[in-house]
Amino acid sequence: MAALRPRVHFTARRFWLNDPNGLVFAGGRYHVFFQHNPRAGNHGYMSWGHASSVDLLRWEEHEVALPWREGRDVFSGSAVVDWRNSSGLGDAGDAGPPVVAMFTGNGFYHQAQYLAVSRDGGETWAFGPPEPVLDEGKQDFRDPKVFWYAPCGSWVSVVVHPDERQVGVYTSPDLRVWSRAGVFGPAGGVAGIWEVPDLFPLVVAGQERWVLKVDVFEGGPQGGTGAQYWVGDFDGRVFTPSQGARWADAGKDFYAAITFSDLPQPGRRVWLGWLNNWVYANHLPTQPWQGVLTLPRELSLVPDGPEWALAQVPVPELEALRDEALALPGGQRVEVGEGVPLDLTLPMTSWTLQLLSAGGEEARLWLNGGSLHFTRAAPVGLDGFAGTFSAPLPDTVGEVRVLLDTCTLEVFAAGGRVAFTQLLLPHAPISALRLRGADGRGWTLRPTQAP
Ligand code: FRU
Repeated sequence: MAALRPRVHFTARRFWLNDPNGLVFAGGRYHVFFQHNPRAGNHGYMSWGHASSVDLLRWEEHEVALPWREGRDVFSGSAVVDWRNSSGLGDAGDAGPPVVAMFTGNGFYHQAQYLAVSRDGGETWAFGPPEPVLDEGKQDFRDPKVFWYAPCGSWVSVVVHPDERQVGVYTSPDLRVWSRAGVFGPAGGVAGIWEVPDLFPLVVAGQERWVLKVDVFEGGPQGGTGAQYWVGDFDGRVFTPSQGARWADAGKDFYAAITFSDLPQPGRRVWLGWLNNWVYANHLPTQPWQGVLTLPRELSLVPDGPEWALAQVPVPELEALRDEALALPGGQRVEVGEGVPLDLTLPMTSWTLQLLSAGGEEARLWLNGGSLHFTRAAPVGLDGFAGTFSAPLPDTVGEVRVLLDTCTLEVFAAGGRVAFTQLLLPHAPISALRLRGADGRGWTLRPTQAP
């Protein structure tokens, strides 16, 4: 199914990819690292693959940044620009500040946090000190997400204790010596282990609020893995939720998202995730690549009654890829070209969108009864993939935005309050659409990856 390689979404040239790691703007480029097996199409020999972009859209894949070494996987983590060289990992002769990554070394029944450094703005990487900088002697303790907390003048790292369903908060003056400051959880979805935390502020109506996101391995919104979040306060040590847990994405295929560090636009928050579910991720028949990242999404908070909801929209940079305008007159089959990526806008009324290939209907997205629904079939033997998936909409204000890129479908509704992300594995790439019950419009998108 090589023809199903997305044309806009990032995939590794070859082989396995899972979580995005170390998202950081450095040296004038957006850097995306990713959990990668450079040897095969399944999870193993875990390393940090590396790609970079000047516009969040066109990714250039580089050499593996942090390779698996005998007996130790390089598991998920994050990266920051160490502006003041607090870590001392930079050198006075360097062109700019060091970029420091904190990742989980996964050894024999032991996980601990280590540092790596780039002294050329994120281009090339080296492992840091051989000893872990944060080690509690545990078998499972991973996925550090680091940020600078200005009011206390300290670094903060959130690290997950998967079995305990807890997120530990650690602080450090220099990225090298860490002390435990607080802990959050168990709370919300606790059916499965917790993974990949992130903690970040968003300013709304002049006030800063904090979002804590953590993934669950089981019991996600459509079964299997998923991402939950809380909105609340953070004082540099302790996160206090002001409302209950919510799902970040109502679909089956959104996991392990983290936000970019050091974006040049103040206050801007962008994240991307892994467009997959651990239930079937190791078995997707898409060789020679295996695993895809979501589009980068811009985050904000919007009021939802007395509470706050996370809103996500594809980054506006995407508009630069818009190509031919498309009209979707109700009831008509519209040929769009095989595998051409699409960005469609549909009303919040009732409708049905059929996704058609030369062989017939492959998948169907529809809105009725105040909910979005999506039906997909599965290739033979892919358990847990086929089905109908539904997501209630909080109201019917605004429009529905649908982004289709071969095997990926990302839907944003209710001003971004509902994101609904799904894989699809058609027999042949979608080549036509039929929208019933309404008129729609949209654009084809210019590919950024060679098909
Ligand atoms: C999440 C995860 C992380 C871990 C990484 C290993 O998908 O399981 O907890 O660090 O993937 O690849």
